[in-house]
Amino acid sequence: MDLDGTDNLLALAVQLASDAADLLLEGLTRDRVVVTTKTTGTDMVTEIDQASERLIVDGILLARPDDGILGEEGTDRVGTSGVRWVIDPIDGTTNYLYGHPGFAVSIAVEIDGIISVGVVNDPLHGEVFTATIGGGSFRNGKPITASTQSNLANALVGTGFSYEAERRRRQAEVLGKVIPHIRDIRRMGAASVDLCSVACGRIDAYWERGLQPWDHAAGALIATEAGAIVGNLDGGEPEFDFCLAGPPALFAALRDLLAASGAAGA
Ligand code: IPD
Ligand code: CA
Ligand code: CA
Repeated sequence: MDLDGTDNLLALAVQLASDAADLLLEGLTRDRVVVTTKTTGTDMVTEIDQASERLIVDGILLARPDDGILGEEGTDRVGTSGVRWVIDPIDGTTNYLYGHPGFAVSIAVEIDGIISVGVVNDPLHGEVFTATIGGGSFRNGKPITASTQSNLANALVGTGFSYEAERRRRQAEVLGKVIPHIRDIRRMGAASVDLCSVACGRIDAYWERGLQPWDHAAGALIATEAGAIVGNLDGGEPEFDFCLAGPPALFAALRDLLAASGAAGA
């Protein structure tokens, strides 16, 4: 697809994320109702998660009826155009439920299987992060870059925890081994925003095990285009088993520390 095609996809993704973000803000003024839980009792879905996904999916289908769509709240549509949308209608649902800052709408677009567009809209902070492949990363239209931190001892590192109790316990054990070697840890509660935080250097690095494609697709492109390395422990693409993001000067040292701390099995 040519540059214009990518730009058109970006424009649509930005518009749909903005419409969904307005819906999230409006929903904050009402009682938030957990309609169901998914993988565990702490993995919640509100009616706004579902309404946000519906809004985004309807908007995509109206503009681009031949595209595929994967959404966290159940959309799984095979397309014929070579373009697939990967949507997290609210990333950070626990924050959202509490009205706590740190939730976002995350939309990525794959072209022929390659993530080519990413948009993360964090409405409470008024921040829209965007990236296109090869085109750099932006916050509210201004270019952003990842930190240049090279010293593990001075690195501020984000992470996240699974909804599954036993995995959480293992992740907390890993944390206990990692934290003596870094500046400090942050657990904000939305993987997409964490990756954008790496992209703009307000944390140095981030790791998490157990992410789904909709958690990391947009944020990983935004972090990569901002100069960070995003991958798994073996040097491959970010995946369920591992997502690590950090500046080139820090990545290997943090990867080695995480591996030595048992993060791969946590
Ligand atoms: C979750 C958030 C959280 C991360 C979890 C994700 P959700 O997504 O991104 O920060 O730690 O792994 O599942 O459920 O709020 O969309
Ligand atoms: Ca998510
Ligand atoms: Ca979600």
